[in-house]
Amino acid sequence: MAAPTKIKKRIEALREQINYHNYRYYVLDDPEIPDAEFDRIMRELQDLEQDYPDLITTDSPTQRIGAEPLKKFSEVKHEIPMLSLANAFSDSEVEDFDRRARERLDVKSIEYAAEPKLDGLAISLMYEDGILVRGATRGDGWTGEDVTQNVRTIDAIPLRLRGKGYPKILEVRGEVIITKAGFEQLNDMQRERNTKLFANPRNAAAGSLRQLDPRVTASRPLSFFGYGLGKVTNVKLPGRHSKIMALLQEWGIPVNTEAHVVKGAEGCLDYYHQMQAKRNSLAYDIDGIVYKVDRFDWQEQLGFVARAPRWALAHKFPAQEEMTLLQAIDVQVGRTGALTPVARLEPVHVGGVTVSNATLHNQDEIDRLDARVGDTVIVRRAGDVIPQVVGVVMSRRKGRPRRYRLPDTCPVCGTHTVRLPGEAVTYCAGGLYCPAQRKQAIKHFASRRAMDIEGLGDKLVDQLVDAGLIETVADVYALEAKQLAGLERMGEKSATKLIRAIEKSKHTALARFLYALGIHNVGETTAQSLANYFGTLENIMKADEDDLMTVPDIGPVVAKSITSFFSQKHNREVVSKLLQAGIAWPKIKVKADAELPLKGRTIVVTGTLASMTRDEAKAAVQMLGGKASGSVSSKTDYVVVGENPGSKADKAESLGVEILDEGSFLKLLGKK
Ligand code: IVH
Repeated sequence: MAAPTKIKKRIEALREQINYHNYRYYVLDDPEIPDAEFDRIMRELQDLEQDYPDLITTDSPTQRIGAEPLKKFSEVKHEIPMLSLANAFSDSEVEDFDRRARERLDVKSIEYAAEPKLDGLAISLMYEDGILVRGATRGDGWTGEDVTQNVRTIDAIPLRLRGKGYPKILEVRGEVIITKAGFEQLNDMQRERNTKLFANPRNAAAGSLRQLDPRVTASRPLSFFGYGLGKVTNVKLPGRHSKIMALLQEWGIPVNTEAHVVKGAEGCLDYYHQMQAKRNSLAYDIDGIVYKVDRFDWQEQLGFVARAPRWALAHKFPAQEEMTLLQAIDVQVGRTGALTPVARLEPVHVGGVTVSNATLHNQDEIDRLDARVGDTVIVRRAGDVIPQVVGVVMSRRKGRPRRYRLPDTCPVCGTHTVRLPGEAVTYCAGGLYCPAQRKQAIKHFASRRAMDIEGLGDKLVDQLVDAGLIETVADVYALEAKQLAGLERMGEKSATKLIRAIEKSKHTALARFLYALGIHNVGETTAQSLANYFGTLENIMKADEDDLMTVPDIGPVVAKSITSFFSQKHNREVVSKLLQAGIAWPKIKVKADAELPLKGRTIVVTGTLASMTRDEAKAAVQMLGGKASGSVSSKTDYVVVGENPGSKADKAESLGVEILDEGSFLKLLGKK
């Protein structure tokens, strides 16, 4: 069917709109319409092209992916070689560069175009009559690979130039990159699929562009910045690099908006230090600054040496990755009992500091890297991020070192370690007994929502443990005022006050006590469910995993945490000492289902209630067998709305969840 003119016009108009909005988004970094609207326009174009396939052109924005996978890339000869840059690592090298250029040109002062050195992959884009006809990698500078069909999938690269006045043949050179966020997103995806992670954004960009199947490239969040020209047919172009960049931008090529024209070595160095400070806040990785003599006639006069121009210099930031020897793997036990393997490294200068330790996170990470003691590893320290081992240089592995396994017993207290199914972290099961966990455990025990011992704060716990006055939470109840009085910032009066608070905390509730024990995965809600369901501590300690899993909301992971905790002799001893010290709670009558009118119901309270606090409301719900939750979802049964409710009330409304006012809530609780 021949397409009516009206359709042709509409298709043209849609393409123009899409190109315009891409330009706003990628080049100006200033989108005008929301993504959803953009998608709508794109869909309309796709639908029309599907009905009228004759009207599809290769530069249509719908045609970014389309080509079949290649067997191999073909070669591309660069008519004008893609050179590299001379590097500088210090201020004085930059001063020398500027001095030599001034001497050669016999001028007093030079203006430089200074711009970030992007850490990606160099690429050449060939436009003929404004249409993208070829994309090629740099390769060895003279011969690269034809990656046209991959380059076409990168949304930031226009398939057709904007405006007019561009040369008949225009070769744009620049860098294909992946943003830091795109890198994280890509590695999350790789992790989900259980495939290899990329060590850094540069590898991710390079690996993504060199894919034989363009659909793979299309799925990767790549971007592009132009930084120069290659072959250009005869037209009169401006005589300065900075002006050319502005023109490229008008034609729809993204160029770096951080670029600046600066004066002399001093201007270069100022810019360098500014960008170094800004480096971590940029959306993409940069590994230095490139200074280019701005005037083209001066560039020409300066010419080239070997493979690098005399008119440009790459001033590198301190490297963020270095190689070094993995001397040993030690294990640290954190305050939660988590075992963290730490790489002990031969000291190496990276990211501006000397690094001799780096985290290896957990067993999975060690397995993924296949890091073994004696290996040469790559250490990365980006910005303020703690140093990481990102790879092993396998070709340098000597002999057959043993695989590393985290120990079966805690290096601090000797208790066995556990790794729960589905979790990456290995924990020491020592709990309250393990000195590494002791301080944290005591702080948690004393906290407001646990035993609520007023005055027993973090600093005091540190002092008490350091002074050897307490070892476990049970020792808290053996403290005497005269022991305390000697401590820093502790007078007689506050000592007495604290002893009184400790006494007072003995009258508690089973749920609070359970929560206070700091069992992994047992938060307040789980503690309350356990108390309601089993009624006594004895029953809970006796329960096996199957018994525990009959409690609503307790799954295998939580059940295992609980049995693992109570299976430890030390933990049982601490518990019995606490009970001997006089900790007690009101008896709980285990209720029959008939007495649990809210069983199976999930209730969220938002805003301020007049008759009770939010915590009291929560407790009341739990007493009746219901679940008090903090967030509204389609699984929520009621949302109780008090004064000044937050967005939860709106969410409830949009999800169609029943909303209760305070009066109806009290009725539900049987209080009215
Ligand atoms: S200009 C004559 N500008 O650095 C060479 N290069 O070491 C002109 N690079 O392969 C290159 N950001 O991939 C230039 N703003 C920038 C750059 C940049 C990154 C890369 C480029 C080149 C390498 C040279």
